[in-house]
Amino acid sequence: MTHLDRRRFVAALAALPVVAGCAGALPGAALAQAGYNTRPLRPAGEVPLVGIGTARLYQDPQTEEDYAPLRATLARFVELGGKVIDTAPSYGRAEEVLGRLTNELGVRDRLYLATKVGADNLDEGKAQIERSFANLRTDFIDLIAVHNLRDTANHLAYLRELREAGRIGAVGITTSFDPQYDEFAGVMEREPLDCIQVDYALDNRNAADRILPLAREKNIPVMINLPFGRGRLFQATQGRPLPDWAGEIGATSWAQVFLKYIISHPSRPIAIPGTDQVRYVDDNLGAARGTLPDEALRRRMEQFIDGL
Ligand SMILES: NC(=O)c1ccc[n+]([C@@H]2O[C@H](COP(=O)([O-])OP(=O)(O)OC[C@H]3O[C@@H](n4cnc5c(N)ncnc54)[C@H](OP(=O)(O)O)[C@@H]3O)[C@@H](O)[C@H]2O)c1
Repeated sequence: MTHLDRRRFVAALAALPVVAGCAGALPGAALAQAGYNTRPLRPAGEVPLVGIGTARLYQDPQTEEDYAPLRATLARFVELGGKVIDTAPSYGRAEEVLGRLTNELGVRDRLYLATKVGADNLDEGKAQIERSFANLRTDFIDLIAVHNLRDTANHLAYLRELREAGRIGAVGITTSFDPQYDEFAGVMEREPLDCIQVDYALDNRNAADRILPLAREKNIPVMINLPFGRGRLFQATQGRPLPDWAGEIGATSWAQVFLKYIISHPSRPIAIPGTDQVRYVDDNLGAARGTLPDEALRRRMEQFIDGL
């Protein structure tokens, strides 16, 4: 992006209205104008197809030196019109860190905050959820998902109560383990869900066998965790130049290749790459903009990675 393009882009984003209380009623038209591929996500309306994940990277900053890059990351993410941030009570102090930084930056209302509940019984789960509200310093959480299918039915029922009471905007489930896929698909068949989250990456495509088609069939929005396989894809491609076909989709980095592959799946998922640096925000959100690969190019991308 040239300097002038960037200025126009940021100016378009600065025109986005802010809605108090949730990231809802977001200006889909303005996001589209800024070139993002978006999808509707309850309760927010349209959100860009790339967000941020906070596992490990936000778990335990101590000094201002540790906090500064995280603060700059979030500020940049908001500046560029990013919305979805995924966290969990089990990611060390990540919820508390997010709450502190979004409060300092005054940006809570511009973000879609997704967290999880991961507990073996409802009493424990309820206490954990209350801690999430306190740690995130908000009275409204956009999405709470049952983490890795722990006590799923009880937690989903309670989360629906919270949704009806207006304390949360959406309920969902997550997994990142193939052995849970059958049970996960069963919950998708049985329970009404506002969102699911599953692992999927260019070199880890099992979710595309059943989970993603089912989500598409039932029109359930999807978030994708481990989009880089925790960095595995960067190791696999280290030192390699981008193939010519990367230019066909405007990808200028391997990260953009990997993310464009994910978000071009027909279920139109939202990837949530772990992101703790401004340059990663620019790179990863850049993948949500512009051309996405068609089916033929998706097959070529798969053949490329399988051939390494
Ligand atoms: N069951 C579940 O619900 C579940 C399970 C797992 C994850 N998750 C969620 O999914 C999110 C994503 O997973 P993850 O963070 O573990 O793994 P990931 O997104 O696959 O990989 C993140 C790593 O990729 C590198 N990276 C990020 N952007 C980059 C860029 N533009 N260029 C080069 N390298 C880049 C960074 O590594 P370096 O720091 O080494 O540079 C970063 O730590 C988590 O943060 C979490 O929110 C949910």
